[in-house]
Amino acid sequence: MIIIGFESSCDETGVALVCTERGLLAHTLHSQIDMHREYGGVVPELASRDHIRRIIPLTRQVLYQAGVGLDDIGAVAYTAGPGLAGALLVGASVAQSFAWARQLPAIPVHHLEGHLLSPLLAQPQPEFPFVALLVSGGHTQLMRVDGVGQYALLGETLDDAAGEAFDKSAKLMGLGYPGGPALSRLAEGGDPAVYDLPRPMLHSRDLDFSFSGLKTAVLTRVRALEKSHGQLSDTLLADLAAGTEAAIVDVLAAKAIKALDKTGIRRLVVAGGVGANRHLRKQLKHEVGRRGGKVYFPPLEFCTDNGAMIAFAAAQRVKAGLEDLNPRDHAFTIRPRWDLQDVCIAASSTDVSPVGFP
Ligand code: KG4
Ligand code: ZN
Repeated sequence: MIIIGFESSCDETGVALVCTERGLLAHTLHSQIDMHREYGGVVPELASRDHIRRIIPLTRQVLYQAGVGLDDIGAVAYTAGPGLAGALLVGASVAQSFAWARQLPAIPVHHLEGHLLSPLLAQPQPEFPFVALLVSGGHTQLMRVDGVGQYALLGETLDDAAGEAFDKSAKLMGLGYPGGPALSRLAEGGDPAVYDLPRPMLHSRDLDFSFSGLKTAVLTRVRALEKSHGQLSDTLLADLAAGTEAAIVDVLAAKAIKALDKTGIRRLVVAGGVGANRHLRKQLKHEVGRRGGKVYFPPLEFCTDNGAMIAFAAAQRVKAGLEDLNPRDHAFTIRPRWDLQDVCIAASSTDVSPVGFP
């Protein structure tokens, strides 16, 4: 069965076609980064309006690219949450209208389930069970994944997400939006040892994170350096960026390793926008490899938001028998706030009880 999937939860419009037997057929994507850049962050109303402009042309394009006709499509998937309400409404209403017009089933998809399963879009696919480190602009979570729909939360951030820590620190350093990639580029030429920044909760026994203190530490450093040096030089900024990146990456890596130790699982999957970070990839590969484990990353283009992961997650749920494929009435809701546990079938949470650290 061919499923068309729509993603519009934030600042990327994505449309994709996934076949339950053959995998990804095609995907198209438009990023609104250039539009939001001058405001220093996502402007929700502008995001919604741009999704409206892009979604139909992207749909035509993806059908053309894959050589797929409307009659070939068997189901319609869309991100129903979490995300920006107005932005979600665009994808949801287009998807539901499509499904209604073609008398097809519509499958609401949880955005984080899309990220969680996105590493399965690459070869080799990780086998279940695996630990997933989900690191995006809005989320930082460690999950145990026992199968499609079997997710258990092991730990999460108590305040800012890792992507937010990148973005906010970058802003304090006067870098553009989005801050993560900009800070990471700048850090390449810097020395992480010059500014020793805090690694919050690095040694806490749980698998939770906290990044808001790091942002405050960066702010304090920037203010102190401006006082003593005036305008900050490129070298100084590069060192500060490298120090910040190292602090975030060290904490993410340490907690991910702790999660592997705690669950006894040897496969780690990294998903979400921050998963594109080169330093994080390198450090995790090294540290997990050293312990005889393996790390799986989605292809770079599927790290940040995209339609492929949404159509793909829907296809996996269909294959696992988790979706009712009878076309229903097409009244729908979006869920700007939505707990991932709501899309889980019971199970895996039972065997995540802490087993203690080795
Ligand atoms: O998953 P995503 O595209 O959107 C959300 O669902 O949030 O993640 C976006 C986040 C932003 O905070 C962005 O700065 C961060 O991912 N990001 C990076 C890199 N590429 C994107 N952070 C660090 N290094 C990168 N290379
Ligand atoms: Zn995302």
